[in-house]
Amino acid sequence: MDYFKTAPNFMWGVATAANQVEGGWDEDGKGMSIADCMRYRPKIDTNDYQAVNQMDSHEIELALTDHSTKGWAKRHGVDFYHRYREDIKLLAATGINTYRFSISWARIFPNGDDAQPNQAGLDYYLAVVQELKKYNITPIVTLSHYEMPLNLVLNYDAWFDPQVIGYFNKFAQTVIDYLHDDVKYWIPINEIDSIIRHPFSSAGLVADRFQGQNFEAVIYQAMHHQFLAAAKVVQYCHQRYADLQVGSMITRTMVYPYNSDPQNVLAATETMRDVYAFSDIQVRGRYPQYLLTTLKRKGIPLTISAEDRALLQQNTADFVAFSYYSSICTAADSTGLKVTKANRTAGVYNRYLPESEWGWQIDPVGLRLSLIDLYDRYQKPLFIVENGLGATDTLTADHHVHDQYRIDYLRQHIQQLLISMAEDGIELMGYCMWGPTDMISASSNQMSKRYGLVYVDLDDAGNGTYSRYRKDSYYWYQQLLSYGHQIP
Ligand code: BG6
Repeated sequence: MDYFKTAPNFMWGVATAANQVEGGWDEDGKGMSIADCMRYRPKIDTNDYQAVNQMDSHEIELALTDHSTKGWAKRHGVDFYHRYREDIKLLAATGINTYRFSISWARIFPNGDDAQPNQAGLDYYLAVVQELKKYNITPIVTLSHYEMPLNLVLNYDAWFDPQVIGYFNKFAQTVIDYLHDDVKYWIPINEIDSIIRHPFSSAGLVADRFQGQNFEAVIYQAMHHQFLAAAKVVQYCHQRYADLQVGSMITRTMVYPYNSDPQNVLAATETMRDVYAFSDIQVRGRYPQYLLTTLKRKGIPLTISAEDRALLQQNTADFVAFSYYSSICTAADSTGLKVTKANRTAGVYNRYLPESEWGWQIDPVGLRLSLIDLYDRYQKPLFIVENGLGATDTLTADHHVHDQYRIDYLRQHIQQLLISMAEDGIELMGYCMWGPTDMISASSNQMSKRYGLVYVDLDDAGNGTYSRYRKDSYYWYQQLLSYGHQIP
């Protein structure tokens, strides 16, 4: 299949997040961020999602008193902060034309509420963008990818506090003003639906700081504030710079009913609606009745003013971005059924699918189904901004990594998106695999859960040389992008 003919302007790329790659956690004026408080949590290997997704004040106290990087993997990342030239050069040689990365808010406004931005932070991201430009690589910038200045958690109520909307927009506008000449694609908030599953990493919400309050209600109010902040980014870009595009972004885990029992079909529909509520608001510009009814049933009062409604309605997303890694099944009653894991959630095991070492079920057709479903729902351009396989890799004595499993994963998923583009009448802007180099896992903070095309010599304890080695998947991706006519 000649897929370059199918979509000559297709954006092929890679994706990262600042807190998972950069390191340099306290350099050049950067403030402490919530990601700097996250420790190695291999517990994610169990099904105890509640435990791994939460954060408590004690952990934050610990983070505040320990200024080392040992045990705080996101503080050292994979040193992209200093090695971005080397990494971009390596990746440019694969033939990518797109690079998605995020900005560390605390590098620009160290405390979140500072009067002036940190110039060194702005200059750093300008340098990254200019480096990409050297290779004709189009940047896609995520403004908030699982981090915010810690000060906004300690001295405000994180995203629950309406003042944080203003601070976020000041940060967003500062960065957009600085980079808009070269950055045309923006995503305000990564996986905006994830606030429900992991309220700390998504929105800085720590349950024990809201004692006496209904924490679920706190989460929903913070969610509303994130919607307003994201809509204000759309408004700013559209009013000020006509050539910028702003995307919504959700975690698109595919959800199937466990079997054709209508009760299980209903359970799957409800699970999916919980996620679609988020893209509905950003793409259609209004709260779906489903979510309003759910909140009412739960007795959660949400403050949505007429002004908020107008803001959401008038500032909808230009494209629909999503991450896709795996699928789950749901059942109305899952007692006795085998459990499976997915992106910080769990479901019922699907006996038709293999699973990764981390128990995420591998489902390329689920990607095609997601594309069809999202396009039929919104009729807006779609963008797969994350897709990849977390696995344990072995570096051989002669510095090779034979990751055929990752090649298989990528090939199968890319095949499905190409079929979908050719046969399903969808509009897809691009595909970014996660990630260019290995990086720190968002959920478990493990280094050993590797996604990259390039191996980074570093272990879970932070030992290693940080040297980069191209994996077999690197050469495969390079071949894919240079062939132009068929999938290798
Ligand atoms: C996505 C996140 O949901 O999943 C990334 O946006 C993350 O930040 C990716 O790295 C994979 O998850 P994990 O926990 O395996 O790193």
